[in-house]
Amino acid sequence: MMKDQLILGIETSCDETAVAIIKNGREITANVVASQIESHKRFGGVVPEIASRHHVEQMTIVLEEALSQGHVTMADIDAIAVTEGPGLVGALLIGVNAAKALAFANQKPLVPVHHIAGHIYANRLVTEFKFPLLALVVSGGHTELVYMKEHGHFEVIGETRDDAAGEAYDKVARTLNMPYPGGPHIDRMAHEGTPTIDLPRAWLEEGSYDFSFSGLKSAVINTVHNAEQRGETIAPEDLAASFQASVVDVLVTKAKRAVEQYGVKQLLVAGGVAANKGLREALQQTFSQQSDVELVIPPLSLCTDNAAMIAAAGSVMFEKGIRAEMTLNANPGLDIEIFN
Ligand code: KG4
Ligand code: ZN
Repeated sequence: MMKDQLILGIETSCDETAVAIIKNGREITANVVASQIESHKRFGGVVPEIASRHHVEQMTIVLEEALSQGHVTMADIDAIAVTEGPGLVGALLIGVNAAKALAFANQKPLVPVHHIAGHIYANRLVTEFKFPLLALVVSGGHTELVYMKEHGHFEVIGETRDDAAGEAYDKVARTLNMPYPGGPHIDRMAHEGTPTIDLPRAWLEEGSYDFSFSGLKSAVINTVHNAEQRGETIAPEDLAASFQASVVDVLVTKAKRAVEQYGVKQLLVAGGVAANKGLREALQQTFSQQSDVELVIPPLSLCTDNAAMIAAAGSVMFEKGIRAEMTLNANPGLDIEIFN
């Protein structure tokens, strides 16, 4: 019998300090996430300097907790996977330097991981991949459709031209005076309202898999301001429901068309907005009629940032022979297609 492969993953690209250990690419041995949301809330968004400082404070604590949760020592670990980018440079640097120190001190291979590849691989903790597949990536910083013909190979067939879906959620939430991060609040409100307000859907040119959410965001903000000027009131629940209906309509329609055109076996959903109830329900309804395509959506805890997904992606990158040198630096603009 082959020895189990144990990958330790580190994620610090934004406001979660996370360390996880994954066995044989698919099994969670340990998964620890220290969230900083409470510290950023009063500023209405992530403050980069505060994020970096928290990562420094939390890193060794989270690492020790992960090793103890997994009942392993560093000697048992085969490789250290770390988010190289994209993300906040000062935040990424803390994880990258922790990973380099651990790799050097314990003489372990260092594996660089793309944050979005991580989000996609959260799905492999749910079920095995069947290629070719498509991933609908909807996070705070990215909205993309990614085609995969094999492990570790990513082809972006469409992406946002302006705001990411999560970013639009957070900005609309701010307009409605809701705390950061706004996505879950809008989601909850949307279920209490009805989509009675007519808002735009950016389909872009015929056949395009690109997205655009800034027009929708502006339309919501204008609707609120116009109503204020006229002394009218709009039910925020209805506005939230109308906004969510527009986002979900575009995401589901484009994903469905891409799935058909590319003839894929699976549609994976990835990123923080994959936690959205409205999106999950609409996807389930759309794809339940298509028995030839398997819809995979991670549990809520694996949709938002975590290190289990980084270790899961790191596992296949490790198998592919991808290694980082001790000169590895944080790369806030890292391209997902670079390791193809
Ligand atoms: O993937 P993620 O944790 O971080 C990035 O890599 O960006 O995504 C965070 C984003 C935030 O914009 C947050 O508002 C959004 O995911 N989000 C949601 C929900 N839960 C988190 N958006 C809509 N509905 C949700 N339930
Ligand atoms: Zn993320």
